[in-house]
Amino acid sequence: MQKLKKIYEGKTKILYETDSPGHLIQYFKDDTTCFNAEKKGFIERKGIMNNKISAKIFGFLESHGVRTHFERVVSDREMLIRKVEMFPLEVIIRNRAAGSMCRALNLEEGRKLECSVLEYTYKCDRLKDPLINEYHIRALKIASDEEVEVMKDYAFLINNLLTKFFVRLNVELIDFKLEFGKRKGKILLADEISPDTCRLWEVGTEERLDKDRFRQDLGKVEEAYQEVLTRVSR
Ligand code: TMP
Repeated sequence: MQKLKKIYEGKTKILYETDSPGHLIQYFKDDTTCFNAEKKGFIERKGIMNNKISAKIFGFLESHGVRTHFERVVSDREMLIRKVEMFPLEVIIRNRAAGSMCRALNLEEGRKLECSVLEYTYKCDRLKDPLINEYHIRALKIASDEEVEVMKDYAFLINNLLTKFFVRLNVELIDFKLEFGKRKGKILLADEISPDTCRLWEVGTEERLDKDRFRQDLGKVEEAYQEVLTRVSR
């Protein structure tokens, strides 16, 4: 598969066309941003680690019936993906309170929840990805009701699968963000799943093994990503 021209560059990834019209190459950068890009930085080797972690997780999910855009790893920082039409949505699941949920509702970080919480944000940098609900999605025709049901079912299935996947690695899945796309009428999980897009706490110590180390200046950021890579590669 030959890499052709760049078609999109985001904050942490670049997409390239390939000589196959149905496939793209997704390149993972070391750049990192948070708080709607108010804080910017660089995590050494992050692109390499997130490419490998995402590949492992997409492979695991595919083997458990989740359709994803992932095809195969093609280099240290690149994976071959199926081209999809992205929904401008982030689907977030929270198993314990952290991050923006704590800020919005004045909750203690790590507070246990009676049930998992599903949230949607509308992907728009200019508006800082505002929280929306299923009525907004329907009213603004962001996705059909059927598509929302598929994404929601996938999100809870992925939560069950990944919670168990990480517990075996002595890691608790606190929350995570998913993005979906559409290809030939089917909904596929897209983007990435990595310590950039999940909160991962070590069981017992609650040591942060994710991007909160960068967000909160906790240090040892690269080491935490490497630890996740080492564990998911076991
Ligand atoms: P939040 O607490 O900042 O809303 O984040 C919830 C989860 O979603 C957390 O695991 C990080 C992830 N996330 C992203 O991957 N991208 C984003 O742009 C945001 C806001 C959150």
